[in-house]
Amino acid sequence: MFKQTTHAKLIVIASLLPIASFGIVGAISYYEINSFLDDENWVKHTYQVIGQADDVEKSMLDIETGSRGYAITGNPISLDVFNSGMSNISGQLDSIRQLTADNPDQQSNIKKLTNLVEQKIAFSSKTVSLRNNQGKDAAIQNVATLNGTNLMVQIRQVISDMKNTENNLLDQRAHTSQMSAQNSTNTIIAGTAIAIIITIISTIAVYKKMKQRDEVEKTNIELHLETEKLRERDNAKAELSAMVSHELKTPLVTISGYAEMLKDEGVLGTLNQEQIHAVDTISSQTVKLERLISDIMDAQKMDLKRMKFNKREFAVDELMEEQIQIHSKLMDDKNIQFTNTTKEKLKIKSDPDRLNQVFANLIKNAVDFVPENGKIEINATRKNGDVLFYVKDNGKGIPKEKQDGLFKKFYQIDTSLKRSHGGTGLGLVICKGITEALGGTIWLESEVGKGTTFYFQIPNNGSTNQNQEEV
Ligand SMILES: Nc1ncnc2c1ncn2[C@@H]1O[C@H](COP(=O)(O)OP(=O)(O)OP(=O)(O)O)[C@@H](O)[C@H]1O
Ligand SMILES: [Mg+2]
Repeated sequence: MFKQTTHAKLIVIASLLPIASFGIVGAISYYEINSFLDDENWVKHTYQVIGQADDVEKSMLDIETGSRGYAITGNPISLDVFNSGMSNISGQLDSIRQLTADNPDQQSNIKKLTNLVEQKIAFSSKTVSLRNNQGKDAAIQNVATLNGTNLMVQIRQVISDMKNTENNLLDQRAHTSQMSAQNSTNTIIAGTAIAIIITIISTIAVYKKMKQRDEVEKTNIELHLETEKLRERDNAKAELSAMVSHELKTPLVTISGYAEMLKDEGVLGTLNQEQIHAVDTISSQTVKLERLISDIMDAQKMDLKRMKFNKREFAVDELMEEQIQIHSKLMDDKNIQFTNTTKEKLKIKSDPDRLNQVFANLIKNAVDFVPENGKIEINATRKNGDVLFYVKDNGKGIPKEKQDGLFKKFYQIDTSLKRSHGGTGLGLVICKGITEALGGTIWLESEVGKGTTFYFQIPNNGSTNQNQEEV
């Protein structure tokens, strides 16, 4: 689940990264191109101003040369030139005024220019009217004052200033515009290269992840198939040994039956002391063998989840008293002090027979490990709605490092031939299987030289994951 989300995230990131980088490249280029176009507009605008300034100068020249020519020759063609300049000049001044509205320097130049133009127009108009009204000499005399020429020089100067200002601006704008163009090109090239690199990297990353996932999936399928095979083999083995165990038990019933008959004097005749001893040995070994087979069968049933449970409500204190009755005989040989310290009267719904089985295993172990005159205590108390049982002994204890293996099949701490404790190492496995199947847990506390306590906590009516038969 986690892996899937990580893969999905990676694919989303891998596809978003190139899109994002192309988006960023696009946005930057858009901005750069816009400012480039803006600069271009400004360049165009500057050319317009310069063009208009040239036009004003030309019109003023027309006025100047037209009026002067008319004064000297009286030729109407000169008068036409004069009039053409007169008709254009005011429009041209207006246009240049508007074009430079945002430039205070140019505006003050325009003011100066307008003033000079007005003076020059007045002067030239006077020349024309003197020619018309007073004749050639009067008009030429007016021209000869050089006032008109002076004004024209000043007008040219102002126009030249204006053109210089615009040319400076033009230089600046051309430079900015070039920079913008260069920037746009650089951004597009670098951005596209980065976006391509990111795309390649993320494609490789996605490809690798997908390949990895395919491999993991393949391994998972193989493992799954392998596990299935192993499980089938395990089940077959377990079935076989369950059957064998069962088959072993049947002849034992006959053996112990005959042993009992032999001991019974009236049935098969009287036995001498040695024969009785031999039959007793057969009997007790048969019981051991029966128990061993029962344990193996129980362990198998638990493996196959076929152990049967039979839950009913019962008094826990009575179950505890029963333990004393059932097992007190076991205590005689070692003169063990066996006590039930349960104080509460508890009721619980669980399987008392299976709990007896747990007690039997734990008590038998305790008996084997306590010294002569040792002590075994059993107890039951309520704990968070469950019942907590324990079997406590003051035996030799179990070293910490050995405790982990205790609940594993066929595990025994002392495997030497000289050991006093018999058994096969299935008792605690069965205890764990039963407590867990009843929804509980089992654990121990032990200290070498001081003793061992096995605890098992059983819930009231805890669920079982095995077969159960309700009564
Ligand atoms: N009360 C105890 N004190 C000390 N050691 C113990 C105690 N109970 C169990 N053990 C140790 O744990 C081992 C496993 O116990 P378990 O009951 O599973 O098997 P077993 O008693 O050896 O054989 P089985 O119970 O199948 O006859 C024992 O061999 C013993 O070494
Ligand atoms: Mg045991």
